[in-house]
Amino acid sequence: TTISPLIAGNWKMNGLRGSLDELASLAHMLISGENPRAIVVICPPATILSEVAQLGATAGIQAGGQDCHTQAQGAHTGDISASMLADAGAQYVIVGHSERRADHGETDDQVRAKAEAAIGAGLKPIICVGETEAQRDSGEAEAVVAAQLAASVPEAANFHDVIVAYEPIWAIGTGRTPTNEDIARMHGAIRQQLSARFPEQGPTMRILYGGSLKPQNAREILAVENVNGGLVGGASLLAKDFYTIISAV
Ligand code: G3H
Repeated sequence: TTISPLIAGNWKMNGLRGSLDELASLAHMLISGENPRAIVVICPPATILSEVAQLGATAGIQAGGQDCHTQAQGAHTGDISASMLADAGAQYVIVGHSERRADHGETDDQVRAKAEAAIGAGLKPIICVGETEAQRDSGEAEAVVAAQLAASVPEAANFHDVIVAYEPIWAIGTGRTPTNEDIARMHGAIRQQLSARFPEQGPTMRILYGGSLKPQNAREILAVENVNGGLVGGASLLAKDFYTIISAV
């Protein structure tokens, strides 16, 4: 089975209304270039999500949120629910990004509940896992990721479109990446675990790589076995760079 690749741009806490110009450039490149093989998703700050969804739609770009609450609505000042993201035009939502796990102390249990909420609202969750540098150095990377995966991916992944993103924390925003062999080993282990737990969806569930994915390294990393696309931070902010990465798959 071939899995259609997906390239998601995570703008993180970057992007004012002016960033819509960059999105317009990307849309233009996608419309005037060859049809990309990849599904293209942009996850902007929630303040411009509906504009991104509308503008993106003209070029087949889909929109996603960067986080959602576990509840559908209620007294949670400052939070955003999955159904609100869907209402604004999102089709995806990132949950459990390492920055949320670090900045907001999100646990695997919360991440799983957020993924469930996302599925309940009709969104496709992009569930993030990944080890720290110390865990990699002490040889625990695979065990850490296996534990995160087991606890963060909900049972509903058996029956819904769920995406996993492997992001080694030490590779995020650092310009450093694992070797292709290390990526292949980790993605292979993730595939095995998903396939064992979810006999229906596991073999074809997308597993994205994230962490310093750039125009210069995208082609080789995206060609690694069981890498079904990428989650791109910094390089998704410039239309030209992001387009190069999209075209590399
Ligand atoms: O969600 C995206 C990742 O955290 C990767 O960020 O491409 O800036 O390293 P980066």
